[in-house]
Amino acid sequence: MWLPDNYTMDPYDLKKKITKKSKAIMPVHLYGNFSYMDEISEIADRHNIDVVEDAAQSLGTTYKKKQSGTFSRLGCFSMYAAKVMTSGEGGAIVTNDKEVFEKLRKIRNHGMLHGYDTRILGLNLRLPELSAAIAKIQMKKLPKFLKKREHNAKILTELLDDLNFILPRERTGVKVNWYLYTISTKNRDKLAKQLNEKGIGATAYYSIPAHKTPFYKSKIELPMTDWAASTVLSLPVHPLVTEDNLHYISKTIHQLVEK
Ligand SMILES: Cc1ncc(COP(=O)(O)O)c(C=O)c1O
Repeated sequence: MWLPDNYTMDPYDLKKKITKKSKAIMPVHLYGNFSYMDEISEIADRHNIDVVEDAAQSLGTTYKKKQSGTFSRLGCFSMYAAKVMTSGEGGAIVTNDKEVFEKLRKIRNHGMLHGYDTRILGLNLRLPELSAAIAKIQMKKLPKFLKKREHNAKILTELLDDLNFILPRERTGVKVNWYLYTISTKNRDKLAKQLNEKGIGATAYYSIPAHKTPFYKSKIELPMTDWAASTVLSLPVHPLVTEDNLHYISKTIHQLVEK
């Protein structure tokens, strides 16, 4: 069953929005939650269109023990500084498709394969060696980072369970990476401001959804996205958050909500 508080693409709405012009479907594994890939893949197959997974936030998130980002032709990962592991900047794309792989190799290097043999339009999108070196070490630490995130998320859920919030949860078969611990609540803006004043890094990702930004501005109706954009709030669970921090976050939220 589709759950709105998974904050990922609604397969039933997707079905309605596909037109003859649709070229690809790009589900975003938002907050580290896993998109409804079984349903989305079936729709894509039926319409003969490709799927590209935006797995920027979901490294370490698995479905039936399989890494998110590997359920389609292409999976795109981010190693930006705020992600579950980082190379400073940069990312990675995974694919099983040899043709796509060869094309990507050219695109990232000015369209060249060997050098001075530009074949297609490309850019300089190479991951610098220095960043790759950081990523290599970070990758080794990733299991430890994820374990701490999971531990923190579990504690926060226990501490906040009595409140009138929608708390994040894992669907059957899914293991999330707890990149963001995102709740949904009324009066979100007020609560976020008050928490920030108390030194708690609570943040609303994304209070202005992509389809309402100037470039993408469109008349498309995405009521669930609008609902999420006005109610979500992410609380800190990153590996440096201690149990004391979590108790402070919970105590502060309880005091503010009970006021
Ligand atoms: C869902 C999502 N997609 C794409 C990106 C872009 O990744 P990068 O910043 O590595 O280009 C990000 C990172 O901020 C993201 O969170």
